[in-house]
Amino acid sequence: MSSSTPQTVASAVDPLDATRLREDFPILSEEVNGHRLVYLDSAATSQRPLAVLDAEREFLTHANAAVHRGAHTLAAEATDLFEDARATVAGFVGAEAEHLVWTSGATMGLNLVAYSIGNASVGRGAPASAGLALRPGDEIVTTAIEHHANLIPWQELAARTGAVLRHIPARDDGTLDLDAASEIIGERTRIVAFTHVSNVLGIVNPVDELIALARRVGALTVMDACQSAPHLPLDLPALGVDLAVFSGHKMLGPYGVGGLYGRAEVLEAMPPFLTGGSMITTVTLDHAEYLAP
Ligand SMILES: Cc1ncc(COP(=O)(O)O)c(C=O)c1O
Repeated sequence: MSSSTPQTVASAVDPLDATRLREDFPILSEEVNGHRLVYLDSAATSQRPLAVLDAEREFLTHANAAVHRGAHTLAAEATDLFEDARATVAGFVGAEAEHLVWTSGATMGLNLVAYSIGNASVGRGAPASAGLALRPGDEIVTTAIEHHANLIPWQELAARTGAVLRHIPARDDGTLDLDAASEIIGERTRIVAFTHVSNVLGIVNPVDELIALARRVGALTVMDACQSAPHLPLDLPALGVDLAVFSGHKMLGPYGVGGLYGRAEVLEAMPPFLTGGSMITTVTLDHAEYLAP
């Protein structure tokens, strides 16, 4: 590995027909401050095209019912649509439906992972959960260019478990210092959490190399794919990352929807974070057994 490893910047060249595409987005016909709207803040939240608005309206006007919670026809239809969507979104990142957990967004997905590992660290979960447990002195590695959503959950997890949080520094041009990374990721590293594409600079990180460094020491990899899922073709199983999160409202979808992709063994080992309805196989007043991820 060398510091000259190429890192690319997302291309600004758009081969698409912008005039045609504008027609899909009703909001782009709006006037703001006396001008037709030009919207350049899709990294924060994207606008929704008619196809998405129509699908949401279609669902709410024809199939809305409690998903996985009703025995009637409409509930069955809503549940089928919900599970079809899971398969579609999982396929979009190269995965099978059972590897995709719905979340309310990327912040939720990253907190889910961090809290689940925290629960494993205090002995909760199946026997396999012990493999995720952190002990004092274990190390969590992130990078200096993370969104707060991929930083603060790890700060909190470190504080709860006695783990040490370390950061891979960025060079002056914003790219990650891979020489430093290969020194920082070592025998004590248990988790390596990194963004695929920077939400500030658009830099595409060398995630395959980060994953290889983490694998060398048996560390869990957690990737923030918020900015790559909308812009790059993704095959998360082929990439070999253990867990990855992305967010509906940054990829033309609705607010309050996100995806957590996970390798089967990792998802199965993770103790639940949020508990409540529709996530148990059996429950008594004192104890519950949980559904598969
Ligand atoms: C790189 C990155 N990670 C995480 C998030 C948080 O995503 P969400 O709004 O789905 O919680 C954002 C949002 O700006 C982001 O750009």
